[in-house]
Amino acid sequence: ADTAPNGAPRARVVTDVAHRGASGHAPENTLAAIDEASEHDATAAEVDVQRSSDGELVIIHDTTLERTTDVEQIYPDRSSYDVADFTLEELKELDAGSWFGGAYAGEQVPTLEEVLDRMEERGLNLLLEIKSPSLYPGIESDIAETLRDNPRWLAPGGDEAHRLVIQSFDWESTERSHDELPRVTHGLLGEVPEDEIADYATWADQINPNHTNLDADYVDAVHEADMEVFPYTMNDAESLRSVIDKGADGVISDYPDVAREVIQEE
Ligand code: G3P
Ligand code: CA
Repeated sequence: ADTAPNGAPRARVVTDVAHRGASGHAPENTLAAIDEASEHDATAAEVDVQRSSDGELVIIHDTTLERTTDVEQIYPDRSSYDVADFTLEELKELDAGSWFGGAYAGEQVPTLEEVLDRMEERGLNLLLEIKSPSLYPGIESDIAETLRDNPRWLAPGGDEAHRLVIQSFDWESTERSHDELPRVTHGLLGEVPEDEIADYATWADQINPNHTNLDADYVDAVHEADMEVFPYTMNDAESLRSVIDKGADGVISDYPDVAREVIQEE
């Protein structure tokens, strides 16, 4: 709603979310990227969760390890490098920072728990993407179990409404996660057809499309259904301004510092 209970206009709050941590400043999905998100005054950090072969939840974007780690050097005899085929111990041998710059040598693939702890220390909210859940049957309940062990992440309501958001491109996975954690905010990545928005609004809280697909009428339709819109991924002031002008409730950027400046212009 645009008005407070007393009828006064409500100040608009646009949430500044660091994409894969502040991945313009540090290697994506590492603790260093979480630290950079905090240094640049992000409100929240988005990270991607997958699962190791021995059932540990780990934070990494690609379903294979080559792009963001030195896996080919460390395990030259393996024929493939799927995240799902490596134990946590094996993943912890990898350098997930050097590809971004020598200063980050030794950064590891973090576990979800390590990220939760670091974000708690840093006072950041979490936007957690369940990445490729069809590869990890049951991952939604694994995530819920980890979060239940960290009850500070589950506080609902008020300013903490965005303390934790769980989202996925796989909307069935998102719904399974909602069933596990019905009080947690859940987002649908991609673009829900306009005539299906009302159905999804019965349980989901956000629709989060690629920013290039966003138009103001679509944002209005999502808001009509009492849902929010957090488009991804805008890295320059012009595209950030554009989605904010169209009504976005949050912005996902590799550069939360650039996003913060644009948000403050409003
Ligand atoms: O928050 C949405 C965004 O993270 C989705 O894209 O490919 O960076 O995971 P991707
Ligand atoms: Ca993501």
